[in-house]
Amino acid sequence: MTGKVIAANWKMNGSVAMAAALVPKVASYAASAGSRSEIVLCPPATLLAEVGRLMQGSFLALGAQDVSAHASGAYTGEISAGMLKEAGCRYVIVGHSERRQYHAESDALVKAKAEAALAAGLTPILCIGETLEERESGKAFEVVSAQLKRSLPTSHQPPTANFLLAYEPVWAIGSGKVPSSADIEAMHAHIGASAGAGAKILYGGSVNAGNAREILSIPGVDGVLVGGASLKAEEFCSIIECGV
Ligand code: PGA
Repeated sequence: MTGKVIAANWKMNGSVAMAAALVPKVASYAASAGSRSEIVLCPPATLLAEVGRLMQGSFLALGAQDVSAHASGAYTGEISAGMLKEAGCRYVIVGHSERRQYHAESDALVKAKAEAALAAGLTPILCIGETLEERESGKAFEVVSAQLKRSLPTSHQPPTANFLLAYEPVWAIGSGKVPSSADIEAMHAHIGASAGAGAKILYGGSVNAGNAREILSIPGVDGVLVGGASLKAEEFCSIIECGV
């Protein structure tokens, strides 16, 4: 991966019709813009096969939003890393704050999920980030270090190839609020120092067409993880343009 990583997290949004309208536009835009970025689309699990089919022959890559820590068996509702791989995924988001918050995912579980992903040959995008309360009480660095310490796969330290971290301050997700460039730079440097040289770190939280250029130019920012703004083809294409 030489360029930036521009990853789209659709969350629980999208449909076959939406994918059919968006994916070809993004694929042809990325090709015509000569993007050197790795562009990853992470739709809901039911759309993986369809989005994979729509992106065939393009430079886009497919990712999932979650994975089971288990390889197979009696785990109703779960999807294994091997299954995601078979569905065409190259990436999987693990430990997103919405999973941590609404599904009580612990750092230990996030670590097991990242290890399962690596074992199946998927590139995990491991999310970490502090809450507003933690930032305001001056604990952001400490919290992020602790999350890293407990959730980084032991088999993969320091994370280099085939491993991505995403710094996503919880208070910046879907809120329209973004930390200052200096704060993003400082946190990415902190994460890089804890995670090991060569760690690739994306920023996520209210990235949009208006702020992507500045965010992508911050030293230590290797890409972006985009939620809401990735659901609109034009806006997402403008973000891709910022990574060219
Ligand atoms: P947002 O979400 O871009 O809508 O803030 C980012 C994320 O949660 O990954």
